[in-house]
This record gives sequence, structure tokens and C-alpha cells, in this order.
Amino acid sequence: MPPLSEGEVGQLLTSALKEIEAASTPEGFNALKVKYLGRSGVLTLALRSLKEVAAEVRPKVGQALNAAKLKLEGELDSRLSALEAAERRSRRGFFDYTLPGTPMPLGHHHPLVKVSNEIVRIFNFMGFEVATGPEIESDYYNFEALNIPKDHPARDMQDTFYLKDSELLLRTHTSPVQIRIFESRKPPVRILAPGRVYRHEAINARSYSLFFQIEGFYVNTDVTFADLKGVLNAFVSAFYGNVQTRFRPSFFPFTEPSAEMDISCTLCGGKGCSVCKYEGWLEILGCGMIHPKVFRNVGYDPEVWNGYAFGLGVDRIAMQKYRIDDIRLFYENDLRFLEQF
Ligand code: PHE
Repeated sequence: MPPLSEGEVGQLLTSALKEIEAASTPEGFNALKVKYLGRSGVLTLALRSLKEVAAEVRPKVGQALNAAKLKLEGELDSRLSALEAAERRSRRGFFDYTLPGTPMPLGHHHPLVKVSNEIVRIFNFMGFEVATGPEIESDYYNFEALNIPKDHPARDMQDTFYLKDSELLLRTHTSPVQIRIFESRKPPVRILAPGRVYRHEAINARSYSLFFQIEGFYVNTDVTFADLKGVLNAFVSAFYGNVQTRFRPSFFPFTEPSAEMDISCTLCGGKGCSVCKYEGWLEILGCGMIHPKVFRNVGYDPEVWNGYAFGLGVDRIAMQKYRIDDIRLFYENDLRFLEQF
């Protein structure tokens, strides 16, 4: 190809632009790209033969060629992308059913809810029906009716959240549900009452200002402590499998006799480890035979009826089950924690 003059470069550019103007398909634009800018394209060859151009005009011709090249590249690119955008627009409204779906993250139950549901399911199976009560309670239901006298340490401002300028408080345990059920029903009753409770305590790895309990109680004629032990042992073997249990004497104003139940440590099997603090045993609940004074408060004749009650700490059981060493993790709702369950 003979070397071009500056004027010829101008004419070449003008006709190339006209051709681009006339093109309307991606194929057309690509063909023009090859024709002018490809390896043996017109502009490419012209640039290559630049050394044959007379030295005086060479810089001018060179500049014109480079400018023409840039101009054509820009023009072709912008026409091509405009064409693609128009094509995308015309395809809108079209849905490709063969594309994979957009994954939708699924939520799930909180670990405390999981453990609570599992416990409820086991007691349901043994004939307990589920009931609930309010989290805001009166002094009467939370304390007085449960034989917790006015000077009992559990009433200390340290333990109870009182509502300002009122007789009301945040329940400190689920036991007031006993009173509410007894007041509204005649025995026999067999109830499980899961729920949130509140205590005004210093927050640390082992205690929080709110936590979950599950209250259970059974009232009928001839209910014995042996029935209580039987039901709790059946629960423990259903929930934990093969562990040992023991009952330690304890005190609650609303039960007599009272006990706390321990299970052999699920981690070390009783040999002693950091989870059971080298005791070999883990406390899981408080229980006892319902106090005659409680029955009298609700109008049940203690000569006719007797029963047992127990109160399980859900948080502690969940901590043991999942080996969680800080109760606060349950309430901070950090997804990095929650997503593990
Ligand atoms: N309410 C007691 C507590 O919160 C537990 C308990 C319930 C004990 C029922 C005996 C009977 O500690």
C-alpha cells in the first residue's frame, strides 16, 4: 500500500465514519473494525508504511493517522455498547426459567427456643399441657400467694424489678403461673409453663437480668414425691440419655419438702471437669411437693389434694448442652453466634 498524504487520511476517516453511521448490527460494526483497525486493516497498514512518507510531512501524517485511529475506535465502541443496551431493554419482561434461583437465607429458632421446645415436647408426651402467664405480675402472684413472706430475701430490691409507682413487678420466676392456673381450674391439673423471667442481678458470664424457666406442676389426689422423681428421671433420660440423677434437700417457701436435682456431668461423666467445676454434678432444677399454704391460698383443700412442682432453668441446660460458657451470648443476638445452631 502506498503511503498516504495528510489529506488522504482525512478522506479515509470521513468515509469510515459514514460507513459506521450506516451500520446497524454488531456484525456490521465488527466487520468495520476489522476493515480499518484489524491486523491488515487500512489504518494499521497506513501506520506501518509511515516510514516511507517523506520526512518533512511524516510527523503531520503520523499525527493524522493516530487521531483517525482513536476516533474510529471510540466511535465503534460507543455504537456497539448502545446497540447492546437497546437489545437488553427489548429483552426486559423476558424471564429465563432455566436460570438457577436466587438463594434466600432462611431463619431458624434461637438456641433457647430449640431447647425449650425439646423439653416441652418430652413433657407433652407425659401428659403435661402447656400454659403461660404474664411477665408483668403483681406482688401477690409472684410472692404472697406462693408463701413468700414480706421479709423474704427474694423480695429484696436487689432481686426484683419493680414497676415505678405501682404494685407491679417483672416476675422473678414462672411459679406465679401455678397460682393463676389453680385459681381458674379445679384439680386434677398437669401443666407445663415455659416463659421469660427477670432478676435484678449483676450481669456476668453466669447470670443475666432475664432468662428462661419452665415450670411444671401436677395436682391430684395421692400425688407423691416418688411421682415427682419418676417424671423427672423420665425427662432426664429422654433429654440427656444415659446420665445419673440425684436429689439434694433444698428450700423453697412454696414447696415442702423441697429439693434440687442434679445430673452427672454430661461432659466428664462425673469424673470432674471445668464444665461441672470439678463437682461431677450439674444442677438443673428446683422442685418439691406443693406447700399446703399455697393450696389454701387458692381454695384447694390440702386434705384432699396434693401435688408437686418443679422449675427448670432453660439457659443453664442450653449452656450445658451446647457447651456455651457465657449466658450473655444468648441475648446479644450476634449472628455469628446464632447461625451455629
Ligand atoms: N421458682 C423456683 C425458682 O425460680 C423454682 C421452683 C419451682 C422450685 C417450682 C420448686 C418448685 O428458683
